[in-house]
Amino acid sequence: MTDTLATLAAHLAVTAGTLIRDGRPDEVVVADTKSSPIDVVTKMDTDSEQLLRHLISAARPQDGILGEEGDAVVGTSGLTWVVDPIDGTVNYLYGLPAYAVSVAVVAGEPDPATWVPIAGCVHRVPDGATYTAGRGRGAYLDGARISVNDARPLSHSLVGTGFGYTTERRRAQGAVVAALLPRVRDIRRIGSAALDLCAVASGHLDLHYERGLKPWDMAAGQLIATEAGAVVTGLHGRPATEQMTVAGPAGSVADLVRLLEVLGADEGP
Ligand code: IPD
Repeated sequence: MTDTLATLAAHLAVTAGTLIRDGRPDEVVVADTKSSPIDVVTKMDTDSEQLLRHLISAARPQDGILGEEGDAVVGTSGLTWVVDPIDGTVNYLYGLPAYAVSVAVVAGEPDPATWVPIAGCVHRVPDGATYTAGRGRGAYLDGARISVNDARPLSHSLVGTGFGYTTERRRAQGAVVAALLPRVRDIRRIGSAALDLCAVASGHLDLHYERGLKPWDMAAGQLIATEAGAVVTGLHGRPATEQMTVAGPAGSVADLVRLLEVLGADEGP
């Protein structure tokens, strides 16, 4: 069952990725905005999500669907597909080659606090890199097994993060990253949380942390990172949720969590 779901997740992500790649106009325009004027939606976000919803309903009519750009569909099977039709929409808008389709299927409520991710795929559209994982089956990049880096001191860790779209949230996130920067090897802001989590899984980042991730930003990446040997958690013993997500090898995560707790990184706006 897990392998069948993982194969389907990969098929869905790659099919939507083909639409996004082949259908990208020379000039991408903003079709709508969400939480702030810089939180954008393009026509391709909605087209890609419609395609994913159509393919999921055809293949698995009994399952629920939770997507970034539409209403939640409640299923009867206990499984829900959690999809981000373009993660890294701002990169897509500007033509920066760091955007992906993220598709996961989770058991239980589609809530990161309690869900159990079963299978997932993150497909980086510009170069076709495809990360996959099934629960208990390991994590793979283009079919080759991947694993997180060994834990290393924070001072030698490359740390990915991201920022929300509102001024108040960014002011708080800016203060946290300013305190962190002198204590780590360096900071990366790739612009796609799904790709950040996969970069942790494949050792291209040591750690990732972010406040504000939505279920669709993290579902597939969380499973891929976990199956690659990462701990994915929140602060103060809480699970990874919108409040805070920290991912990486256990020893490094423990150090980063301690520091983020001192900085109050999961509080405020
Ligand atoms: C965004 C990206 C970004 C993260 C934001 C997300 P979107 O997703 O994952 O890296 O920092 O929090 O909203 O809007 O491109 O799907």
